[in-house]
Amino acid sequence: MKKVAIITGASRGIGAATAQLLAKQGYAVCINYYQAKERAEKLATAINQAHGQAIAVQANMALESDILNLFEITDKKLGPITTLINNAGTNGGICEVEHITAHCLQTVFATNVFGAILASREAIKRMKQQNSGNIVNISSEAAKFGGTKMAHYASSKAALNTLTIATAREVAAYNIRVNAISPGVIDTEMHQASPPERVAALINSLPMKRMGKAVEVAELIAWLVSDSAAYISGTIIPITGAR
Ligand SMILES: NC(=O)c1ccc[n+]([C@@H]2O[C@H](COP(=O)([O-])OP(=O)(O)OC[C@H]3O[C@@H](n4cnc5c(N)ncnc54)[C@H](OP(=O)(O)O)[C@@H]3O)[C@@H](O)[C@H]2O)c1
Repeated sequence: MKKVAIITGASRGIGAATAQLLAKQGYAVCINYYQAKERAEKLATAINQAHGQAIAVQANMALESDILNLFEITDKKLGPITTLINNAGTNGGICEVEHITAHCLQTVFATNVFGAILASREAIKRMKQQNSGNIVNISSEAAKFGGTKMAHYASSKAALNTLTIATAREVAAYNIRVNAISPGVIDTEMHQASPPERVAALINSLPMKRMGKAVEVAELIAWLVSDSAAYISGTIIPITGAR
């Protein structure tokens, strides 16, 4: 069966590393992006030039109409989806609860939670017809410890963890596996908006004295969606470098 993956938020960071690795392993990949058109298209071109198959599709994962369009384009251009990586995410910036705005909450939850649920709905409809499939939700260790002045982000990732467990139980009988990966601190542009002192203190607090690499997370995702992980579902797997 042809393996077709949608990776949301794949213009950079963990999503881009995952798209590259899955393409190398023979998946046709849909690289979803929100704003970074040029980067997403460059990545798709590089994959196609290396004899893989990739398309770049714009969709704001906070909008249902964009999500429907993303799946329809993938159906037409790549065929039925076998693998969904719900990776698109935003942290909404550093903000204590007493200063949080409704707009920030809406953006974070619409992208990180609503988007993942609606994309899962669209994926499951298609995967049920094939009686197989894989969904991986990219959560965060912040869901467990609460994050640092990011309760909005941490609680959205906690919702994603519960979504993972609930969905896995619903679709297990259809041979569809649903798991989450819970990264600690990974070296991506997500940290660029943080003050350098905060980033330096963060690195110093890590047991390995370094952040994880996006490709190290991608390797875990690729293994999780492979047949080697056939009995793993409803699980939240940390990748933290002993943090
Ligand atoms: N880096 C870490 O330390 C860390 C730790 C734990 C969990 N995570 C999680 O891992 C995932 C990937 O993070 P990353 O570090 O690779 O982040 P990143 O480098 O900041 O990249 C975020 C990606 O998400 C996309 N995105 C943001 N809002 C979107 C929206 N509304 N619709 C569609 N795409 C959207 C961006 O697209 P455009 O560039 O096209 O706008 C970009 O491709 C996120 O869910 C994040 O919460 C990261």
